[in-house]
Amino acid sequence: MVRKLKQNEMKGHLTYRRTPIEAESPEEWGYDKIKYNLAESSVPDFILGDLGLDLNNLQLSYSDHRGLPELRQSIAEEGDNITSDQVLITTGAVGALFIVVTSILSHKDHIVLLHPNYVANLETPRAIGCQIDYLRLSKENKFKLDLNQLEEAMKPNTRLISLTYPQNPTGTVLTRTDLNEIIALAESKGCYLLLDETYRDMTFNKSPLPLAASLSENAISVSSFSKAYGLPGVRLGWLISQNPVLLETFLAAKELIFICNSIVDEVIGSKFYTDFRTDFLKEINSHVSTNFKILEEYMTNNSYLDWIKPDGGCISFPWIKNEVDLSIRKFNKVLKETYKTFIAPGRWFEVDERFFRIGYGYPSKTELEGGLQCIIAAIEDCIQ
Ligand SMILES: Cc1ncc(COP(=O)(O)O)c(C=O)c1O
Repeated sequence: MVRKLKQNEMKGHLTYRRTPIEAESPEEWGYDKIKYNLAESSVPDFILGDLGLDLNNLQLSYSDHRGLPELRQSIAEEGDNITSDQVLITTGAVGALFIVVTSILSHKDHIVLLHPNYVANLETPRAIGCQIDYLRLSKENKFKLDLNQLEEAMKPNTRLISLTYPQNPTGTVLTRTDLNEIIALAESKGCYLLLDETYRDMTFNKSPLPLAASLSENAISVSSFSKAYGLPGVRLGWLISQNPVLLETFLAAKELIFICNSIVDEVIGSKFYTDFRTDFLKEINSHVSTNFKILEEYMTNNSYLDWIKPDGGCISFPWIKNEVDLSIRKFNKVLKETYKTFIAPGRWFEVDERFFRIGYGYPSKTELEGGLQCIIAAIEDCIQ
């Protein structure tokens, strides 16, 4: 008889586990079963045909290991003193985050980690088994980063500070002064700052912060094609660092895991980035701002929900008020199964289930309005 392996027997050097946010994601549940998708943390998906690319003669060879030079060049131009050699294209931002964290941290090291956060930022340090101090964002503190708490959390073995701004799931942003202070702290403690800048292009018409990596050799920037550009299907992201030793290690990690990116993905991504990105961002930021106004109006004087108004990104993190007496579990079930409306529940972010994330950048105006009304209807169905 074959003995079945149990999950807890899977103890490699890294300990992997599936997370609810991935296992229960809209794509795993089935897009065809969802009427109002308010769970996405991105903008509407871009359609390949809109690029006008003819890929028929594309030679399906390996690509440059660092990523297509013209793509890296275009990305480097976003930073004042960044060269294309300091950009590494990766398989999604998630690939970049994995490379950075596994290259820098061992189980003996300490990381200071923003919480809640995009799941891979939390799970990779956990998989390594390193020491973690969380910087917890709270509604009482308006989801603001507490710089004193960050400084107090530093230990002699702290190797990494890991932050995501504009923030996922709260949509809060960092100021330039905050960023300067955090970088100065990392430099003075001899550790690195990993800044997940996936939502950098979405700052409600204010200029984005400079790339963190352009400000210091101790800062690493990570970003993505998936969120602000709507190309999650090409699985492209990147990291930027001015530190040659780190870059060489990151490239070695990439070569070990993927060798290089898919040339098909890179040609598509490159065409988008050079010829479409600027106009697309104008269009998408206008869509996001129209939808944000709808959400803002909905939240004003909402008798069931409260929020901290976001300042960036395309997501918000409201909560059901404490005085609303309902079973959250039932609410989530009714909303998903009866109203076919998908939100990202608090459980996905390891916080009180009364919180949930609304992605207002992905749905059309009509879908957003429909989904928001379903949230009210589901709450009313579940009030005890
Ligand atoms: C903040 C943040 N970083 C990274 C990622 C991963 O993006 P990608 O699809 O490029 O791997 C996500 C996805 O949700 C995200 O929200």
